[in-house]
Amino acid sequence: MTRDTPPPGKRPAAVYLAARGFERELADELEMRQPGCVTERRERLFVSSAPPIPAAWAQNIWLEPFFLPIASVGDAARQLRGIQRNWHCHPVDLYRRTALIAEHLPPVKARPLVFGENVPVSPLGAWTLWERDLLLLSARCSSPFPDGEVRFEEDRFNPPSRAYLKLWEAFTLLGERPAPGELCLDLGASPGGWSWVLGTLGAHVFAVDKAPLAPGVMNMRGVDWCRGSSFSLSPDMTGTVDWLFSDMACYPGRLLDLVRLWHEHGAARRFLCTLKFQGETDHASARAFAAFPGSRLLHLSCNRHELTWFFNPTSC
Ligand SMILES: C[S@@+](CC[C@H](N)C(=O)[O-])C[C@H]1O[C@@H](n2cnc3c(N)ncnc32)[C@H](O)[C@@H]1O
Repeated sequence: MTRDTPPPGKRPAAVYLAARGFERELADELEMRQPGCVTERRERLFVSSAPPIPAAWAQNIWLEPFFLPIASVGDAARQLRGIQRNWHCHPVDLYRRTALIAEHLPPVKARPLVFGENVPVSPLGAWTLWERDLLLLSARCSSPFPDGEVRFEEDRFNPPSRAYLKLWEAFTLLGERPAPGELCLDLGASPGGWSWVLGTLGAHVFAVDKAPLAPGVMNMRGVDWCRGSSFSLSPDMTGTVDWLFSDMACYPGRLLDLVRLWHEHGAARRFLCTLKFQGETDHASARAFAAFPGSRLLHLSCNRHELTWFFNPTSC
């Protein structure tokens, strides 16, 4: 049996794995963008009949999914191995039988990344046992990490908050980061996890917050802090910056106005911002961010009820 012979009428076009705890956000996002596309759902897995889209609330997207009948546990493992070596299993049912199949597959190293390492290049497929004798699988996925979750060797001593992991992950996934000497505006910087990352990269950081940075970050070479509200800062006060970062606690709509102002003035070469939602998810603002041509809107592994938006205006 190959991917050319799925059970009639059962070939999905995409499968989305919702970010943990954000199943409703993903369901709403898919319904808004491709109404009626979700044909089945099991736990965090959403099966879609429409072509894959870069859904922000998906942690991973199975890009070429198909159903594969199996005759036995051994047969399932044999067929998966025949397609490629590396597979990650996302069980949603039939846990015992799923585990038996997984035991027959080659182990996949899941070592945490050291920041600075590139994303793995070898493809990692995803599969699940959908029915007793039926796998749902995809050799190609949007993320090379198991279930799209990136883990790092953490630094538990130097950064003053765990927010530094967001930048580590974003820079790793995007393959871009500030170069030494680049000017970075860090809005909503306290206590300084992001400024710490930028400082360690050798960037020149201009941090803005009503609250101070932790002393260890405040004393870093290249890091300057200014007390105040980011909304009272205007592009003509700073000149063009290489990167505008924002991890500010504020409504996404307000952040959007700020970003538009800086974008219209051509005052930032790149943007990397966290959209933080309070209460109901503001899908309209999220779509407005995603509408910037060539931008990316992602749910990072360490994001909570928030999305990370990256935009490089010079590349579009
Ligand atoms: C989640 S914390 C940022 C954490 C930080 N990125 C880090 O890595 O440690 C959010 C910050 O936004 C700041 N903030 C909220 N409104 C702000 C505003 N209008 N201007 C500047 N900072 C603001 C808060 O004071 C708070 O320190």
